[in-house]
Amino acid sequence: MRGDGAVGTPGVGGVRADETPAIITPVLLPTAPDRSQASRDVRLAEMHAAGDAIDTLRLRLNDRVRVNEPLCRHTSLRVGGAADVFVRAESVDDVRIALRHAAEEGLPVLVLGGGSNVLVSDRGIPGMVLSLGRGLDYVRRSTDGSEALLAVGAGARSGRVARRTVAVGLSGFEFAEGIPGTIGGALWMNAGAYGGDMAGVVDAVSGVTAEGLDGRFERDALQFGYRQVALPAGFVVLEVTLRLRMMPVAALRVRLAELRQHREQAQPQGSPSAGSMFKNPPGDHAGRLIDAAGLKGTRIGAMQISERHGNFFVNLGNAQASDVKALMDLAQRVVWERFQIRLEPEVRLVGSW
Ligand code: EPU
Repeated sequence: MRGDGAVGTPGVGGVRADETPAIITPVLLPTAPDRSQASRDVRLAEMHAAGDAIDTLRLRLNDRVRVNEPLCRHTSLRVGGAADVFVRAESVDDVRIALRHAAEEGLPVLVLGGGSNVLVSDRGIPGMVLSLGRGLDYVRRSTDGSEALLAVGAGARSGRVARRTVAVGLSGFEFAEGIPGTIGGALWMNAGAYGGDMAGVVDAVSGVTAEGLDGRFERDALQFGYRQVALPAGFVVLEVTLRLRMMPVAALRVRLAELRQHREQAQPQGSPSAGSMFKNPPGDHAGRLIDAAGLKGTRIGAMQISERHGNFFVNLGNAQASDVKALMDLAQRVVWERFQIRLEPEVRLVGSW
């Protein structure tokens, strides 16, 4: 897959998404009659510079760099505008190269895990979106007494890791079986289900800081909250170590099957969604409140509040991010009017709104 066509986004300037050198076409130039030749020359120079910078990045990362990449291809809701620069990092080196480029060019960086807990604005993301690819999808096992330590690459899918732990007789991570997204994203969200969460199994986290330095946090240094963990701004999580207990495979398989059955009954399957849209308010459930407010099945555009679970919004086709936002606003407003309870989004809204 490659980014399509020529673009002229503000942070990047007139560069093309293919391998040819940046081509500046008159249509991309400022044409306002009051612009002086001097300011046009400055803009042209900026566009050349940005184009050169992207070409330099491409020399190092090849087709792992895309320009103007639609993020609806990378989010579980299947909505969202384009990223100015999209990098699919396959190694720690790729991450460092991308971060260095972003720092040099003054681009803000958004790390996208599985894209399952974000709502990307239709206007897209200015700057760089960094996604962790298959090269950062690995599991390495070691033991510590009667427990097992599993070093998991941040790009690994949580559900797959959960199934693998069960298959080799390790307990503690079954809860993640149906959780969409990657381990890196699950860590940031302190993802949880059925009584388990990341806080209960994480032993250490390592990655790189926004400045490109190695960083590692042991369990005791990590402060988890409900659907959050405190980490330095701009920290890119590259590996999460899980501490798991050994247990007979047969018992674990039964547990996994129960969880899967419960999930299939309670949550919509198949349609694009972001999992829970809102955090559960203290002592209650967002899904129950949206249901009790009579909102299940409500549609805006092609976005619908699931008929099965009030806290899941499903994309029935070609929904826009603005449809999702409008549906969220509606749910918040009606739940407030009916119950005086404020629903706080669990999905992270990114881009400009
Ligand atoms: N309920 C309703 N109507 C609905 C949905 C739910 O009345 O439309 C009621 C249920 O009957 C139940 C209660 O609300 O009594 C809770 O529902 P559920 O068991 O489905 O759990 P939840 O609180 O809605 C949480 C997590 C889910 C996780 C499940 C299972 C949050 C925000 N959500 O949902 O996590 O899968 O528990 O443990 O914490 C996610 O975070 O993305 C996610 C899917």
